[in-house]
Amino acid sequence: MCGIVGYTGSGQAAPLLLEGLKRLEYRGYDSAGIAVLGDGEITVEKVSGKVAGLCEKTRDGAAVPGSTGIGHTRWATHGAPTDTNAHPHVSNDGRFAIVHNGIIENYAPLREELLARGYTFESETDTEIIVHLLEMYYEGDIKTAVMKTVARLEGSYGLGVLCSERPGTLFAVKEASPLILGVGVGENYFASDVTALVSYTKNAIYLDDGEFAELTPGGITVYDCSGRAIEKPVSRITWTVEAAEKGGYAHFMLKEIMEQPAAVRAAIAPRVRDGEIRLEDFDLTPEELHSFRKIVITACGSAYYAGCAGKYALESLCRIPVEVVLASELRYGDPLIDEQTLLIVLSQSGETADTIAAMKECRSRGAKVLAVVNVVGSTIAKSADWTLYTWAGPEIAVATTKGYTTQLVVLYLLAMDIARKLGKLEDDRYPALLYDMLRLPRLIQNAIDMNSGLPALAKKYHSSPSLFFIGRNTDWAVALEGALKMKEISYIHAESYAAGELKHGTIALIEENTPVIAVCCNEHLADKTISNIVEVKARGARVLAVAFREDRKIVAQANDVIFIPRIGTLFSPALAVIPLQLLAYYVARENGCDIDKPKNLAKSVTVE
Ligand code: F6R
Repeated sequence: MCGIVGYTGSGQAAPLLLEGLKRLEYRGYDSAGIAVLGDGEITVEKVSGKVAGLCEKTRDGAAVPGSTGIGHTRWATHGAPTDTNAHPHVSNDGRFAIVHNGIIENYAPLREELLARGYTFESETDTEIIVHLLEMYYEGDIKTAVMKTVARLEGSYGLGVLCSERPGTLFAVKEASPLILGVGVGENYFASDVTALVSYTKNAIYLDDGEFAELTPGGITVYDCSGRAIEKPVSRITWTVEAAEKGGYAHFMLKEIMEQPAAVRAAIAPRVRDGEIRLEDFDLTPEELHSFRKIVITACGSAYYAGCAGKYALESLCRIPVEVVLASELRYGDPLIDEQTLLIVLSQSGETADTIAAMKECRSRGAKVLAVVNVVGSTIAKSADWTLYTWAGPEIAVATTKGYTTQLVVLYLLAMDIARKLGKLEDDRYPALLYDMLRLPRLIQNAIDMNSGLPALAKKYHSSPSLFFIGRNTDWAVALEGALKMKEISYIHAESYAAGELKHGTIALIEENTPVIAVCCNEHLADKTISNIVEVKARGARVLAVAFREDRKIVAQANDVIFIPRIGTLFSPALAVIPLQLLAYYVARENGCDIDKPKNLAKSVTVE
């Protein structure tokens, strides 16, 4: 969840580190710090709060001269977000400074051991034990000290190490936490995320778990866990600097909402050739597909809700039972999963700790794993049997938007492809679905364009203490995502219910003026949802409906209506979610919230 960055070269490290931290801030923004080696001494500057505070304190890095350094932006796990708990942490002898992303699970006994040996601790973090272990094991050879130190650690770590005795040298270690090396000319970098590297280099080395690297301005040596130097391929980074910037939008979230037509097109277009879907990395034969008795989808948060919506398409088209299970529950359950299960793992970041753990659990029971992931080279992408990338480009806003819609369309492609191979689609159904699929990018654009009235609607709803989102079937899946978007960025309590369930309890909460957002885009069930709209209105609710253009029945019943273009039910979530994302955005804006960096959250949840 934290962001780490490192630089070694002939330039000034601090401004580069600060720039990198600004790009990584979405991974955590409780506190930030840098450590720079200049004239044989490590200088550390850190602040609680955002990277902007660190820039101010260091005069944009000018106050911290030196050409080797490490930086960190934190999402607090152990210890409050204070200056002292901020990284980098420094050894008692001042020789080492480190930054760490992850969690050290056995830090408590190690801390006891180090205290007994006379080391003093400044912070409450789990990380600080690492720097004292380095000091303890250092006998003039950093590589050995690093290896002895990590051998003592249990947990996850992307680690950057700076030593005052080795100017120009950095060590970077990866275990269950993302770490990428940036290969430059006369300078080299590491970062927890390629977005911090794209301004400086397009060449990257993706470390695997257990590997570590020594970086100098002249080169990078990667070692395996036994300390043997190994060859690693250099990959090309396809993301652009522009894609990682706001490009004139007030917020990354708004930019990413607007990018959805292009993102969805990028996910679909390369996979449709000659009127057929070709899933390059999941090209199974009908026999192989027949061997799966069920599909389990696992994910967290919005990705889980994308799975809930995708389940309808998979079950309806393929006629295979599909279960959607939260990764944080699946990992500790006793799931009925075996070699006849296809596990579909959804993750924008590809680094979500619970999702990785659920995937490992299911794999140990024999499941085959198909990952649907956005970030190239991420842990989930690398460890699945097959990976379908969503090709959404960098998603910086903490609240996912294009990550979600691209996951959805990949699930739709998958459902159509599997159904066709299993002979479950009537002849004319496949081309009809494909036609809708290819129209989706344009229809998403229409859904955006049709909703220019949303800022005004947001003014009506922004001061409500609580919002209800209802829908049936595919509409319920969208309502779940709509409520999550509203909660996380506007901090308004929002809950989603299957519309038919209201009368089994929740309707007791409906009072005069309670806002109810009703999604009515499932052509088979819209009438049923209208009955529920009538029920809540009879109890005083104010209803904002999401419906297809020209749906007169809804206009007659709801207080306000947001329209989307008409499309078949199965793919309707990809359109219905658009106004809900925009509504959450404008409500949050109305309430003056920090939209891209909502409180208590961070992108890429790499802790349990
Ligand atoms: C909500 C949101 C989160 C993520 C969840 C999974 O807007 O972004 O709920 O969807 O943390 O993240 P990934 O997809 O990276 O595994």
